[in-house]
Amino acid sequence: MPLDAQRLKVDQGDITRLAVDAIVNAANSSLLGGGGVDGAIHRAAGPELLEECRRLNGCPTGEARITRGYRLPARYVIHTVGPVWQGGRRGEPELLAACYRNSLRLAVEHGIRTLAFPAISCGVYGYPLAAATAIATRETAAFLEAEPSIAQVTFVAFSPEIAQAYKQALAALGLAS
Ligand code: APR
Repeated sequence: MPLDAQRLKVDQGDITRLAVDAIVNAANSSLLGGGGVDGAIHRAAGPELLEECRRLNGCPTGEARITRGYRLPARYVIHTVGPVWQGGRRGEPELLAACYRNSLRLAVEHGIRTLAFPAISCGVYGYPLAAATAIATRETAAFLEAEPSIAQVTFVAFSPEIAQAYKQALAALGLAS
């Protein structure tokens, strides 16, 4: 399935406002909420999200879990736990790549056709932006080329700097954005 700027795009804004099938949450391994995008998603989804998350009993780094979206415009939330940056020699690149692959795999299993990612691990977890967006775009592009059921993935940048990093990463893959 050819990849074009329609299937893999960059937006700047607040992921909690996107009416896509699923938004991805940069969670922690407890899945019990936190700050950053995790806090924003829980605030927008309402208390039922935390109730459902409690029943999941956490999530290991690199893996993903799915819940309903409740009061969010998105139907589902895919919660994934990114690695904390520790210099890059503790398996962080592989774990971050796994976050994208496992989130996309869950999306396919649930018939999700449109989804949006924040920049996993690029906030509190301190992952360098250029390295993280290179992994995000490379893994997602490879998955979409092999998986026609996903119609569109949006990388949601919370700042112009993050949007620029995604655009540069997509350009490096030969994908206009
Ligand atoms: N929409 C889109 N992106 C957002 C939003 C939002 N509303 N709020 C924050 N972001 C961006 C941040 O700017 C950053 O680029 O999400 C990216 C991920 O940052 P964090 O939310 O800090 O997530 P992460 O670095 O993966 O750290 C996860 O933070 O919030 C806690 O519970 C969470 O312990 C976990 C840790």
